[in-house]
Amino acid sequence: MMDYSAYIDLSRQELLEKVQSAMGPKRFEHVLGVEKAALELAARYNADATKASLAALLHDYAKERPDQDFLDIIDQYGLDQGLKNWGNNIWHGMVGSHIIRQEFGLEDDEILQAVERHTVGASQMTLLDKVLYVADYIEPGRDFPDVDEARAIAKQDLDQAVAYETAHTIAHLASKGIPIYPQILETYNAYVKYLKDTKKK
Ligand SMILES: [Fe+2]
Ligand SMILES: [Fe+2]
Repeated sequence: MMDYSAYIDLSRQELLEKVQSAMGPKRFEHVLGVEKAALELAARYNADATKASLAALLHDYAKERPDQDFLDIIDQYGLDQGLKNWGNNIWHGMVGSHIIRQEFGLEDDEILQAVERHTVGASQMTLLDKVLYVADYIEPGRDFPDVDEARAIAKQDLDQAVAYETAHTIAHLASKGIPIYPQILETYNAYVKYLKDTKKK
């Protein structure tokens, strides 16, 4: 049984209950799937399993909050006012990390950063950042064209998996005419060199 006492004051059971009560059943199932995928990636790439578990269980904690909660936090913490032009998809990670810090008393910057970056990545990602970013994309409940390819790449090379996921996310957003948060483009530009490696195979 995972021991989170170095980071939060909750047992695993208490944590699961608190996370579950913050979201609908489908999202909670997704969260458990992300934890499973994150633990597999952590084992494969030697990341800290406890941190991977916590980051995964918390990553979508704020996803079902009303918009006003995020707008309030942006002001309360003096975050970039430009964030207000975006929406839940960007806020639940970038701003949600502050909600998690507040409501779990979690102070571990590495875990909070991984949550913050889980939708948009960053140009220089830590191992934990990558584990969560990729796990969110390939968790067992995901079902979209090419998810099996994304899973296969994730077993071979984590940087390639980041590149693959980012390229597909951007292509998807562009095809639907959805604005693209600049940090996702930074992630793409930093990791696109790894994409060429996947194409050679
Ligand atoms: Fe998310
Ligand atoms: Fe997620």
